[in-house]
Amino acid sequence: MKANNYSFKKNQPASMRWWHWLNALAILGLLGTVLLRKTFLSWRTNAVFIQSKVEEAGGAVTTEAAQSIAKGLRDVMWQWHYWIGFALAALLVARILIGIFVVKKCPATHAVQSAKGIPALPPETRITAVHYTLVKTGYALFYLITLYMVLSGIALYFKQEIGLSKDFSHLLKEVHEWLMWFFVGFTALHIVGIFIAENRGDKGLTSDMINGGN
Ligand code: HEM
Repeated sequence: MKANNYSFKKNQPASMRWWHWLNALAILGLLGTVLLRKTFLSWRTNAVFIQSKVEEAGGAVTTEAAQSIAKGLRDVMWQWHYWIGFALAALLVARILIGIFVVKKCPATHAVQSAKGIPALPPETRITAVHYTLVKTGYALFYLITLYMVLSGIALYFKQEIGLSKDFSHLLKEVHEWLMWFFVGFTALHIVGIFIAENRGDKGLTSDMINGGN
C-alpha cells in the first residue's frame, strides 16, 4: 500500500453511511437492554422490593411469586434484546453485501494489506501507517465478534428447536455475556478516537459519515 492510502479520510457511499448509523443504534440498543437487565430490572433487587411493598401493605407474597413477577417484568423489556439482536443479524448480512458489491473490500484482508505495506514505507510515515493498521485490525475484530454475537444469540434463542445441550448453551451464553465488554470498550475507544482524529489532522470524519464527503 502507498503512504497516501493510510488515511482515514475516504468517501463514504450512502449504503455504508446508513449501515454505520443503524448498526451504531443497534449496538447501543443492545447494550441498553443489558444495562436495564442488570440495574433497574434486575429480578433479584426487584423481587425483594415487591415482597417488601406487599408486606408493608399488609399482604403476603412468597419469595417464588415475587421473583416470578420481577422476572416477568424484566422479560417484557428483554424481548427488545431479541428484536434488536435480529436487526443486528440483518445488518451484518447487509454489511457483507455492501463489502462485496459496493466497497469491494474485506476488513480482514485490508488490515493484513495495511500491515504488509508498512516495511516499504519511508520511516517518517510509518507511525501513521502502524496506527492506521491497528485501527483497521480493531474493525476486523469488531466484525468477527459481532459475527459470534449474532450466531451465538440466534443459537441461544432457538436452543430448544435445535436441541442445544445444556452445557454447550451455557458455554455459548457465558462467552456471549463476557464479549459484551468488547462492545463497551470498542464504543468508548471509537468515540474517543474520532474526537482525537477530528482535532488532529483528520477533520470532517464525522460529517463524511453523514454526507459522504467530497
Ligand atoms: C452487541 C451485541 C450483543 C450484546 C452486547 C449482547 C449482550 C448479552 C448479554 C450481556 C447477555 C446475558 C444476559 C444475562 O443473562 O444476564 C445476553 C444474552 C442473550 N442474548 Fe445477547 N447480546 C448481543 C447480541 C445478541 C444477538 C444478535 C442476539 C440474537 C438474537 C442475542 C440474543 C441473546 C440471547 C438469546 C440471550 C440469552 C438470554 C437468556 O438466557 O435469558 N444477543 N446478550
